[in-house]
Amino acid sequence: MKGLILSGGRGTRLRPITYTSAKQLVPVANKPVLFYGIEAMVEAGIRDIGIVVGDTQAEIRAAVGDGSAWGVRVQYIEQDAPRGLAHAVLISRDYIGDDPFVMYLGDNLLNKGIKPFVDEFLRERPAAQILLARVPDPQMFGVAELLNGHVKRLVEKPKEPQSDLALVGVYLFGSEVFDSVRRIKPSFRNELEITDAIQDLIDRGLTVRPHIVDGWWKDTGKLEDMLEANRLILETLDRRVEGQVDGASRIEGKVVIEPDAVIERSVVRGPAIIGARARIVHSYVGPYSAIMNDVEIRDTEIEHSIVLEGSVIHDLASRIEDSLIGKNVKIYRLPVKPSAYRFMLGDNSEVGIRW
Ligand code: G1P
Repeated sequence: MKGLILSGGRGTRLRPITYTSAKQLVPVANKPVLFYGIEAMVEAGIRDIGIVVGDTQAEIRAAVGDGSAWGVRVQYIEQDAPRGLAHAVLISRDYIGDDPFVMYLGDNLLNKGIKPFVDEFLRERPAAQILLARVPDPQMFGVAELLNGHVKRLVEKPKEPQSDLALVGVYLFGSEVFDSVRRIKPSFRNELEITDAIQDLIDRGLTVRPHIVDGWWKDTGKLEDMLEANRLILETLDRRVEGQVDGASRIEGKVVIEPDAVIERSVVRGPAIIGARARIVHSYVGPYSAIMNDVEIRDTEIEHSIVLEGSVIHDLASRIEDSLIGKNVKIYRLPVKPSAYRFMLGDNSEVGIRW
């Protein structure tokens, strides 16, 4: 069994962060989303992983390397443009060979991992096994219609969804899928859809097994989903305080403080994580915050937010909430007149000012 992780795509729904960073490397609880997928594969016994990469390949290669950090062999497969998930399968034919494989979308997170699904697939050996989850907004996903426990029809981003069962971004395939990805035509968004390829397997009379996931599943393509995934993962962390905490600070609940972080005259209320070498001074870091390495927060309150490496935030008059702040961002109050907002923001930035 091989693994195929898709790590291309433009990440348009996470701009401006994704102008400079691959969406799969945005951290959830201070760890890139992509790493959770690799770990899920390792746990399922997979040792050969192909990663399909696009424009952001340099960054993905730098972060994952040859896979030896996880004890796996990683090979990179270059996709010239985001031409769809089925196109990614098509160009991975040589790498996969005749092995069955699990395809994992690099921005997806599943709390229970994939081992049970991989085991079930290898036991039953259908042409494909799909994972489904009930969602409130099925029109945003590939949607499955089931009849007596069998997959009747799959539609990508239907305007009028016939069910609330979304296709989760984890798929198991035998080599039958290669004929199907060759047979389908580009969709309304001009991509070769894996949803259409699986429908083609059904049309050819091959078995597609559905499996409804019981734990949580998140596609981290948007800010709200990113924050939710961050919440869900932070809940699972065990308390570990390794940095320096002075006597005037309080660390409450499930909190991880990485080595060489410094907490002075502050309250950190978990679940939260503070990265290595971060400095939290005279501040409040509230529940569901993930503060990355080398961040500095002074005289500021923040909660339910993700702050990436090297950012500096100080002297804010109100609390930051529900935010995703990129790398090396500076947010501060200037003690000069005239008192005014002063911005230098990248394209597609979003700023919400207190009412
Ligand atoms: C893709 C698939 C869709 C699936 C989703 C899961 O959507 O096309 O069928 O439900 O991933 O994350 P995309 O992220 O390309 O919009």
